[in-house]
Amino acid sequence: MVAVKKPLRIGFIDRIAIKNKRSMEKIRTVLVTGGCGFIGANFIHLVNETRPDWRIVNLDLLTYAGNLSNLHGIEEGARYRFVKGDIADAALVDGLFEQENIDTVVHFAAESHVDRSIVGPAEFIRTNIFGTFTLLEAARKAWLADSAEAADPRFLHVSTDEVFGSLGDSGFFNETTAYDPRSPYSASKASSDHLASAYFHTYGLPVLITNCSNNYGPYQFPEKLIPLIFNNARTGRSLPVYGDGKNIRDWLYVNDHCQAIIAVIDKGTVGRSYNIGGNNEKTNLEVVSLICDILDEKLGLLPNGAVRRSLITFVADRLGHDRRYAIDSSRLKTEIGWQPSVTFGQGIALTIDWYLTNQQWLDTVIDGSYQQYYERMYG
Ligand code: NAD
Ligand code: TYD
Repeated sequence: MVAVKKPLRIGFIDRIAIKNKRSMEKIRTVLVTGGCGFIGANFIHLVNETRPDWRIVNLDLLTYAGNLSNLHGIEEGARYRFVKGDIADAALVDGLFEQENIDTVVHFAAESHVDRSIVGPAEFIRTNIFGTFTLLEAARKAWLADSAEAADPRFLHVSTDEVFGSLGDSGFFNETTAYDPRSPYSASKASSDHLASAYFHTYGLPVLITNCSNNYGPYQFPEKLIPLIFNNARTGRSLPVYGDGKNIRDWLYVNDHCQAIIAVIDKGTVGRSYNIGGNNEKTNLEVVSLICDILDEKLGLLPNGAVRRSLITFVADRLGHDRRYAIDSSRLKTEIGWQPSVTFGQGIALTIDWYLTNQQWLDTVIDGSYQQYYERMYG
Protein backbone atom coordinates (compact mmCIF):
# COMPACT_ATOMS: atom_id res chain seq x y z
CA MET A 1 0.00 0.00 0.00
CA VAL A 2 1.31 3.43 -0.90
CA ALA A 3 1.52 5.72 2.10
CA VAL A 4 -0.47 8.93 1.64
CA LYS A 5 1.52 11.93 2.68
CA LYS A 6 -0.34 14.22 5.08
CA PRO A 7 -0.41 17.83 3.94
CA LEU A 8 2.07 19.86 5.97
CA ARG A 9 -0.04 21.88 8.39
CA ILE A 10 1.52 24.49 10.57
CA GLY A 11 -0.46 25.05 13.74
CA PHE A 12 -0.74 28.22 15.79
CA ILE A 13 1.93 27.17 18.29
CA ASP A 14 4.31 26.24 15.45
CA ARG A 15 3.72 29.60 13.84
CA ILE A 16 4.58 31.38 17.07
CA ALA A 17 7.70 29.22 17.44
CA ILE A 18 8.80 30.04 13.88
CA LYS A 19 8.12 33.75 14.42
CA ASN A 20 10.07 33.73 17.70
CA LYS A 21 12.94 31.86 16.07
CA ARG A 22 13.00 34.38 13.22
CA SER A 23 12.96 37.36 15.56
CA MET A 24 15.72 35.79 17.67
CA GLU A 25 17.77 34.97 14.61
CA LYS A 26 17.22 38.13 12.60
CA ILE A 27 19.22 39.26 9.60
CA ARG A 28 22.00 41.38 10.98
CA THR A 29 24.70 43.77 9.80
CA VAL A 30 27.41 43.16 12.35
CA LEU A 31 30.31 45.49 13.08
CA VAL A 32 33.03 43.15 14.35
CA THR A 33 35.93 45.04 15.92
CA GLY A 34 39.30 43.29 16.13
CA GLY A 35 38.25 40.64 13.61
CA CYS A 36 41.86 40.04 12.52
CA GLY A 37 42.93 38.95 16.01
CA PHE A 38 42.71 35.48 17.53
CA ILE A 39 39.09 35.26 18.74
CA GLY A 40 37.68 37.77 16.24
CA ALA A 41 39.04 35.77 13.29
CA ASN A 42 37.64 32.51 14.66
CA PHE A 43 34.29 34.29 15.13
CA ILE A 44 34.24 35.55 11.51
CA HIS A 45 35.05 32.05 10.20
CA LEU A 46 32.23 30.60 12.31
CA VAL A 47 29.70 33.23 11.17
CA ASN A 48 30.77 32.69 7.57
CA GLU A 49 30.10 28.97 7.92
CA THR A 50 26.94 29.03 10.01
CA ARG A 51 25.12 32.37 9.57
CA PRO A 52 24.51 33.21 5.91
CA ASP A 53 21.92 35.72 7.18
CA TRP A 54 24.59 37.95 8.78
CA ARG A 55 26.75 40.52 7.00
CA ILE A 56 30.04 41.50 8.62
CA VAL A 57 32.00 44.74 8.60
CA ASN A 58 35.37 44.04 10.23
CA LEU A 59 37.12 47.10 11.73
CA ASP A 60 40.70 46.33 12.74
CA LEU A 61 43.78 48.49 13.16
CA LEU A 62 46.12 45.58 12.33
CA THR A 63 48.35 46.05 15.36
CA TYR A 64 51.07 43.45 16.01
CA ALA A 65 48.24 41.08 17.08
CA GLY A 66 46.08 41.50 13.98
CA ASN A 67 46.85 39.54 10.87
CA LEU A 68 44.95 39.53 7.57
CA SER A 69 46.03 35.95 6.89
CA ASN A 70 43.87 34.88 9.87
CA LEU A 71 40.93 35.44 7.52
CA HIS A 72 42.25 33.37 4.64
CA GLY A 73 39.26 32.19 2.56
CA ILE A 74 36.93 35.03 3.62
CA GLU A 75 36.31 37.07 0.49
CA GLU A 76 35.36 40.76 0.33
CA GLY A 77 31.86 41.01 -1.12
CA ALA A 78 28.19 41.30 -0.27
CA ARG A 79 28.61 39.48 3.05
CA TYR A 80 31.98 40.81 4.20
CA ARG A 81 33.91 44.08 4.21
CA PHE A 82 37.26 44.84 5.85
CA VAL A 83 38.08 48.34 7.10
CA LYS A 84 41.55 49.12 8.44
CA GLY A 85 41.15 51.65 11.23
CA ASP A 86 41.08 52.56 14.88
CA ILE A 87 38.08 51.99 17.14
CA ALA A 88 39.05 55.23 18.92
CA ASP A 89 38.60 57.26 15.71
CA ALA A 90 35.13 58.74 16.29
CA ALA A 91 34.68 60.13 12.78
CA LEU A 92 35.52 56.77 11.19
CA VAL A 93 33.29 54.80 13.55
CA ASP A 94 30.33 57.23 13.22
CA GLY A 95 30.69 57.04 9.44
CA LEU A 96 30.62 53.24 9.46
CA PHE A 97 27.42 53.11 11.50
CA GLU A 98 25.80 55.45 9.02
CA GLN A 99 27.09 54.02 5.72
CA GLU A 100 26.67 50.39 6.66
CA ASN A 101 23.45 50.56 8.72
CA ILE A 102 25.12 48.68 11.54
CA ASP A 103 22.53 47.07 13.84
CA THR A 104 24.86 44.80 15.83
CA VAL A 105 28.30 45.27 17.35
CA VAL A 106 30.55 42.44 18.50
CA HIS A 107 33.41 44.26 20.15
CA PHE A 108 36.62 42.20 20.40
CA ALA A 109 39.26 44.85 19.61
CA ALA A 110 41.59 45.33 22.54
CA GLU A 111 45.12 45.19 23.74
CA SER A 112 44.91 41.72 25.23
CA HIS A 113 48.21 40.56 26.71
CA VAL A 114 48.81 40.96 30.47
CA ASP A 115 52.63 40.97 30.21
CA ARG A 116 52.54 43.81 27.67
CA SER A 117 50.19 45.77 29.95
CA ILE A 118 52.75 45.51 32.75
CA VAL A 119 55.54 46.86 30.54
CA GLY A 120 53.43 49.56 28.83
CA PRO A 121 49.92 50.23 30.14
CA ALA A 122 49.19 53.42 28.16
CA GLU A 123 48.00 51.71 24.98
CA PHE A 124 45.65 49.54 27.08
CA ILE A 125 43.99 52.62 28.53
CA ARG A 126 43.63 54.22 25.11
CA THR A 127 42.32 51.23 23.16
CA ASN A 128 40.38 49.34 25.80
CA ILE A 129 38.78 52.27 27.61
CA PHE A 130 38.70 55.16 25.15
CA GLY A 131 38.12 52.86 22.16
CA THR A 132 35.14 51.19 23.85
CA PHE A 133 33.75 54.58 24.85
CA THR A 134 34.01 55.75 21.22
CA LEU A 135 32.06 52.71 19.98
CA LEU A 136 29.38 53.10 22.66
CA GLU A 137 28.94 56.76 21.73
CA ALA A 138 28.63 55.90 18.04
CA ALA A 139 26.01 53.23 18.81
CA ARG A 140 24.10 55.64 21.05
CA LYS A 141 23.99 58.29 18.32
CA ALA A 142 23.03 55.81 15.60
CA TRP A 143 20.48 53.73 17.50
CA LEU A 144 18.87 56.02 20.07
CA ALA A 145 18.32 59.23 18.09
CA ASP A 146 14.67 60.12 17.31
CA SER A 147 15.32 59.36 13.63
CA ALA A 148 17.03 56.01 14.36
CA GLU A 149 15.99 53.11 12.15
CA ALA A 150 17.93 50.07 13.44
CA ALA A 151 15.40 47.46 14.56
CA ASP A 152 16.30 45.40 17.63
CA PRO A 153 19.99 46.38 17.77
CA ARG A 154 22.57 44.67 19.99
CA PHE A 155 25.95 45.78 21.36
CA LEU A 156 27.90 42.78 22.61
CA HIS A 157 30.99 43.75 24.58
CA VAL A 158 33.47 40.86 24.75
CA SER A 159 35.29 40.78 28.06
CA THR A 160 37.30 38.55 30.34
CA ASP A 161 37.05 36.71 33.66
CA GLU A 162 40.21 38.60 34.73
CA VAL A 163 38.03 41.56 35.77
CA PHE A 164 37.03 39.52 38.85
CA GLY A 165 40.60 39.26 40.16
CA SER A 166 42.15 36.15 41.64
CA LEU A 167 40.54 33.18 43.44
CA GLY A 168 41.88 31.10 46.32
CA ASP A 169 41.81 27.30 46.24
CA SER A 170 38.00 27.12 46.04
CA GLY A 171 35.04 29.03 44.60
CA PHE A 172 34.05 30.30 41.17
CA PHE A 173 33.40 33.65 39.51
CA ASN A 174 29.73 34.22 38.71
CA GLU A 175 27.94 37.27 37.32
CA THR A 176 27.48 38.80 40.79
CA THR A 177 31.13 38.49 41.83
CA ALA A 178 32.54 41.93 42.69
CA TYR A 179 35.06 43.33 40.23
CA ASP A 180 38.64 43.29 41.55
CA PRO A 181 41.02 43.70 38.59
CA ARG A 182 44.69 43.45 39.44
CA SER A 183 46.68 44.06 36.23
CA PRO A 184 46.60 47.12 33.95
CA TYR A 185 45.01 44.84 31.31
CA SER A 186 42.20 43.61 33.55
CA ALA A 187 41.67 47.08 35.04
CA SER A 188 41.23 48.51 31.53
CA LYS A 189 38.78 45.72 30.62
CA ALA A 190 36.87 46.24 33.90
CA SER A 191 36.61 49.92 33.09
CA SER A 192 35.23 49.18 29.63
CA ASP A 193 32.69 46.74 31.14
CA HIS A 194 31.51 49.48 33.51
CA LEU A 195 31.14 51.93 30.63
CA ALA A 196 29.14 49.39 28.60
CA SER A 197 26.91 48.67 31.58
CA ALA A 198 26.45 52.41 32.26
CA TYR A 199 25.28 52.94 28.67
CA PHE A 200 22.56 50.34 29.23
CA HIS A 201 21.42 51.78 32.57
CA THR A 202 21.67 55.45 31.62
CA TYR A 203 20.62 55.53 27.98
CA GLY A 204 18.94 52.16 27.45
CA LEU A 205 21.56 51.11 24.89
CA PRO A 206 20.94 47.36 24.27
CA VAL A 207 24.24 46.16 25.73
CA LEU A 208 25.23 42.57 26.52
CA ILE A 209 28.53 41.68 28.19
CA THR A 210 30.33 38.34 28.11
CA ASN A 211 33.17 37.51 30.53
CA CYS A 212 35.10 34.52 29.25
CA SER A 213 37.94 32.43 30.64
CA ASN A 214 41.25 31.71 28.84
CA ASN A 215 40.81 30.70 25.20
CA TYR A 216 43.03 28.49 23.08
CA GLY A 217 42.87 27.28 19.49
CA PRO A 218 43.87 28.22 15.92
CA TYR A 219 45.34 31.67 15.13
CA GLN A 220 46.40 32.53 18.70
CA PHE A 221 49.42 34.81 18.70
CA PRO A 222 52.48 33.07 20.21
CA GLU A 223 52.88 35.54 23.07
CA LYS A 224 50.16 33.62 24.97
CA LEU A 225 51.02 30.47 26.93
CA ILE A 226 49.79 27.65 24.67
CA PRO A 227 51.13 28.76 21.25
CA LEU A 228 54.37 30.05 22.83
CA ILE A 229 55.01 26.69 24.49
CA PHE A 230 54.04 24.83 21.30
CA ASN A 231 56.48 26.89 19.23
CA ASN A 232 59.37 26.52 21.68
CA ALA A 233 58.75 22.83 22.36
CA ARG A 234 58.60 22.04 18.66
CA THR A 235 61.95 23.67 18.03
CA GLY A 236 63.66 22.48 21.23
CA ARG A 237 63.88 25.86 22.98
CA SER A 238 63.43 26.29 26.72
CA LEU A 239 59.85 26.48 28.01
CA PRO A 240 59.43 29.45 30.38
CA VAL A 241 57.04 28.73 33.26
CA TYR A 242 56.39 31.67 35.59
CA GLY A 243 56.85 31.21 39.33
CA ASP A 244 56.04 27.71 40.60
CA GLY A 245 53.81 26.83 37.60
CA LYS A 246 50.84 26.18 39.89
CA ASN A 247 48.69 29.13 38.78
CA ILE A 248 45.37 27.85 37.48
CA ARG A 249 43.40 28.91 34.39
CA ASP A 250 40.02 27.63 33.16
CA TRP A 251 40.65 26.80 29.48
CA LEU A 252 37.98 27.02 26.76
CA TYR A 253 38.33 26.08 23.08
CA VAL A 254 37.92 29.27 21.04
CA ASN A 255 35.16 27.88 18.82
CA ASP A 256 33.04 27.23 21.92
CA HIS A 257 33.54 30.85 23.00
CA CYS A 258 32.42 32.03 19.55
CA GLN A 259 29.36 29.76 19.65
CA ALA A 260 28.46 31.28 23.01
CA ILE A 261 28.72 34.82 21.61
CA ILE A 262 26.36 33.97 18.74
CA ALA A 263 23.93 32.38 21.21
CA VAL A 264 24.02 35.48 23.45
CA ILE A 265 23.26 37.74 20.49
CA ASP A 266 20.35 35.51 19.49
CA LYS A 267 18.89 34.80 22.91
CA GLY A 268 20.54 36.97 25.58
CA THR A 269 18.63 39.50 27.66
CA VAL A 270 19.91 43.03 27.12
CA GLY A 271 21.53 44.62 30.14
CA ARG A 272 22.75 41.25 31.37
CA SER A 273 26.25 39.80 31.54
CA TYR A 274 27.09 36.15 30.90
CA ASN A 275 30.11 34.25 32.18
CA ILE A 276 31.62 31.76 29.74
CA GLY A 277 34.01 29.04 30.87
CA GLY A 278 35.15 25.53 30.08
CA ASN A 279 34.86 24.10 33.61
CA ASN A 280 38.32 22.97 32.85
CA GLU A 281 40.86 24.06 35.43
CA LYS A 282 44.52 23.23 34.83
CA THR A 283 47.76 24.41 36.38
CA ASN A 284 50.18 25.97 33.91
CA LEU A 285 52.56 23.11 34.56
CA GLU A 286 49.87 20.56 33.58
CA VAL A 287 49.18 22.43 30.33
CA VAL A 288 52.87 22.74 29.43
CA SER A 289 53.56 19.07 30.26
CA LEU A 290 50.61 17.91 28.13
CA ILE A 291 51.85 19.89 25.10
CA CYS A 292 55.32 18.34 25.58
CA ASP A 293 53.90 14.81 25.72
CA ILE A 294 51.72 15.28 22.62
CA LEU A 295 54.67 16.66 20.64
CA ASP A 296 56.96 13.83 21.80
CA GLU A 297 54.35 11.40 20.51
CA LYS A 298 53.75 13.17 17.20
CA LEU A 299 57.28 14.32 16.35
CA GLY A 300 59.49 11.89 18.27
CA LEU A 301 61.91 12.82 21.05
CA LEU A 302 64.38 15.71 20.85
CA PRO A 303 67.56 15.15 18.76
CA ASN A 304 69.51 14.39 21.99
CA GLY A 305 66.95 11.69 22.90
CA ALA A 306 65.40 13.71 25.75
CA VAL A 307 61.68 14.23 26.35
CA ARG A 308 60.38 17.75 25.86
CA ARG A 309 59.45 18.10 29.54
CA SER A 310 63.22 18.46 30.09
CA LEU A 311 62.95 21.90 28.42
CA ILE A 312 60.70 23.28 31.20
CA THR A 313 62.45 26.21 32.88
CA PHE A 314 61.01 28.03 35.90
CA VAL A 315 61.53 31.76 35.41
CA ALA A 316 60.80 34.88 37.49
CA ASP A 317 57.10 35.24 38.27
CA ARG A 318 54.85 37.78 36.51
CA LEU A 319 54.26 40.89 38.66
CA GLY A 320 50.91 40.66 40.46
CA HIS A 321 50.32 37.21 38.92
CA ASP A 322 46.68 36.12 39.51
CA ARG A 323 46.68 32.70 41.14
CA ARG A 324 43.47 31.06 40.00
CA TYR A 325 40.55 31.75 37.65
CA ALA A 326 37.45 29.53 37.53
CA ILE A 327 34.13 30.33 35.92
CA ASP A 328 30.59 29.35 36.83
CA SER A 329 28.70 29.42 33.49
CA SER A 330 25.34 28.24 34.83
CA ARG A 331 23.49 31.41 33.73
CA LEU A 332 24.59 30.84 30.12
CA LYS A 333 23.72 27.15 30.32
CA THR A 334 20.29 27.53 31.90
CA GLU A 335 19.07 30.72 30.19
CA ILE A 336 20.56 30.17 26.76
CA GLY A 337 21.26 26.47 26.54
CA TRP A 338 24.96 26.75 25.64
CA GLN A 339 27.42 23.92 26.40
CA PRO A 340 31.07 23.57 25.41
CA SER A 341 31.32 21.10 22.54
CA VAL A 342 34.82 19.73 23.15
CA THR A 343 36.79 18.57 26.18
CA PHE A 344 40.23 20.03 26.90
CA GLY A 345 41.84 16.82 25.60
CA GLN A 346 39.97 17.09 22.29
CA GLY A 347 40.52 20.85 21.98
CA ILE A 348 44.25 20.70 22.64
CA ALA A 349 44.66 17.87 20.12
CA LEU A 350 42.78 19.93 17.50
CA THR A 351 44.92 22.96 18.35
CA ILE A 352 48.25 21.16 18.09
CA ASP A 353 47.21 19.56 14.79
CA TRP A 354 46.25 23.01 13.49
CA TYR A 355 49.60 24.53 14.46
CA LEU A 356 51.50 21.59 12.96
CA THR A 357 49.68 21.88 9.63
CA ASN A 358 49.86 25.69 9.62
CA GLN A 359 53.55 26.07 10.38
CA GLN A 360 53.82 28.74 7.71
CA TRP A 361 51.29 30.91 9.55
CA LEU A 362 53.37 30.66 12.71
CA ASP A 363 56.60 31.44 10.85
CA THR A 364 54.99 34.54 9.33
CA VAL A 365 53.71 35.99 12.61
CA ILE A 366 57.04 35.41 14.36
CA ASP A 367 58.60 38.28 12.49
CA GLY A 368 61.20 40.84 13.59
CA SER A 369 58.97 42.57 16.13
CA TYR A 370 58.08 39.26 17.80
CA GLN A 371 61.77 38.41 18.12
CA GLN A 372 62.38 41.75 19.84
CA TYR A 373 59.43 41.18 22.17
CA TYR A 374 60.71 37.68 22.99
CA GLU A 375 64.22 38.93 23.76
CA ARG A 376 62.88 41.69 25.99
CA MET A 377 60.56 39.33 27.89
CA TYR A 378 62.62 36.17 28.13
CA GLY A 379 66.14 37.43 27.32
P1 NAD B 1 44.10 39.69 20.09
O1 NAD B 1 45.14 40.50 20.81
O2 NAD B 1 44.49 38.41 19.45
O3 NAD B 1 43.42 40.58 18.95
C1 NAD B 1 43.08 41.91 19.14
C2 NAD B 1 42.68 42.49 17.78
O4 NAD B 1 42.25 43.84 18.00
C3 NAD B 1 43.83 42.54 16.77
O5 NAD B 1 43.38 42.12 15.52
C4 NAD B 1 44.22 44.01 16.75
O6 NAD B 1 44.76 44.42 15.50
C5 NAD B 1 42.88 44.68 17.03
N1 NAD B 1 43.02 46.02 17.61
C6 NAD B 1 43.81 46.40 18.65
N2 NAD B 1 43.69 47.71 18.88
C7 NAD B 1 42.78 48.17 17.98
C8 NAD B 1 42.23 49.45 17.73
N3 NAD B 1 42.58 50.53 18.46
N4 NAD B 1 41.31 49.58 16.75
C9 NAD B 1 40.95 48.51 16.00
N5 NAD B 1 41.46 47.28 16.19
C10 NAD B 1 42.38 47.12 17.16
O7 NAD B 1 42.95 39.48 21.16
P2 NAD B 1 42.02 38.22 21.39
O8 NAD B 1 42.76 37.21 22.22
O9 NAD B 1 41.43 37.80 20.10
O10 NAD B 1 40.90 38.84 22.34
C11 NAD B 1 39.76 39.47 21.76
C12 NAD B 1 38.89 40.03 22.89
O11 NAD B 1 38.50 38.97 23.75
C13 NAD B 1 39.60 41.06 23.78
O12 NAD B 1 38.68 42.08 24.07
C14 NAD B 1 39.97 40.28 25.02
O13 NAD B 1 40.00 41.13 26.15
C15 NAD B 1 38.83 39.28 25.09
N6 NAD B 1 39.14 37.99 25.74
C16 NAD B 1 40.24 37.28 25.36
C17 NAD B 1 40.50 36.04 25.96
C18 NAD B 1 41.68 35.19 25.54
O14 NAD B 1 41.93 34.16 26.17
N7 NAD B 1 42.40 35.54 24.50
C19 NAD B 1 39.64 35.55 26.96
C20 NAD B 1 38.53 36.33 27.32
C21 NAD B 1 38.28 37.53 26.69
P1 TYD C 1 48.52 33.94 29.20
O1 TYD C 1 48.39 32.99 28.06
O2 TYD C 1 49.39 35.14 29.03
O3 TYD C 1 47.03 34.34 29.62
P2 TYD C 1 46.51 35.18 30.94
O4 TYD C 1 47.64 35.87 31.55
O5 TYD C 1 45.55 36.12 30.31
O6 TYD C 1 45.88 34.16 31.83
O7 TYD C 1 49.08 33.14 30.46
C1 TYD C 1 48.41 31.98 30.95
C2 TYD C 1 49.14 31.54 32.20
O8 TYD C 1 50.43 31.07 31.82
C3 TYD C 1 49.37 32.65 33.20
O9 TYD C 1 49.24 32.12 34.52
C4 TYD C 1 50.80 33.08 32.96
C5 TYD C 1 51.47 31.79 32.50
N1 TYD C 1 52.58 31.94 31.54
C6 TYD C 1 53.81 31.30 31.79
O10 TYD C 1 53.98 30.62 32.81
N2 TYD C 1 54.81 31.45 30.87
C7 TYD C 1 54.67 32.21 29.75
O11 TYD C 1 55.65 32.33 28.94
C8 TYD C 1 53.41 32.84 29.50
C9 TYD C 1 53.20 33.68 28.27
C10 TYD C 1 52.40 32.67 30.42
